[in-house]
Amino acid sequence: MRTSVVWGIVILTFVLLAGIGYGSLAFMMRKSEGMGAIPPETVADYVHAIIEANRTVYATEIVDKLQEKGIAEAAEHWRRENALPLPAQFLIETGRLVAEKGNGVKYRLASLTPIYVWNAPATDFERKGLEAIAKDPSKPYTGFVHIGRERYFQAIYPDIAVAQACAACHNAHPNSPRRDFKLNDVMGGVVITIPMGQ
Ligand code: HEC
Repeated sequence: MRTSVVWGIVILTFVLLAGIGYGSLAFMMRKSEGMGAIPPETVADYVHAIIEANRTVYATEIVDKLQEKGIAEAAEHWRRENALPLPAQFLIETGRLVAEKGNGVKYRLASLTPIYVWNAPATDFERKGLEAIAKDPSKPYTGFVHIGRERYFQAIYPDIAVAQACAACHNAHPNSPRRDFKLNDVMGGVVITIPMGQ
């Protein structure tokens, strides 16, 4: 009788320990899967890095060089004039192609004082974000939004007047509502949208 009680305890303990062991393994696996999923902030940082690198190389290695050599000019009405798109328009155009893919990832340039209304904030979230990055350009303004039934992560990165030409061209543009841009001012933002499912 006594031995069977001892065996009973031994078996029960074994079953319990095995259960706890399996449970924590399953938990750890789920946790590591979760950790493997890249947070949307990081995805937005990746996308932003690519957009900015492409725009910079386009501006400095293509537009600047072709203009210096007198081969081609960048001009706002590049389609009509058979010219090169301005770097801002290069970003806007590639963003348009990305949106056409229809997988939910989007990006655009926006500003509180845009040359064109289509670059104005489209939502309250975008307006708040553009205001926030104008005050503190050290980090993007981020958050989750709903468009229809879909949930999206949005990140708005400051777009800075890195060259005098940025400020000069905007200040002189007949459509521009703002004419006092200076070097290093926040001129607007790059709005990146990433789908999060329903
Ligand atoms: C030669 C003129 C010119 C230069 C230089 C220029 N831009 Fe622009 N920028 C424009 C035009 C024109 C648009 C509107 C493009 C469109 O929507 O088709 C624009 C659009 C923008 C927008 C979107 C909001 C808006 O005003 O419509 C931002 C933000 C912006 N530019 C920032 C910059 C920055 C930063 C630089 C320098 C790195 C720069 N721009 C250099 C002409 C210029």
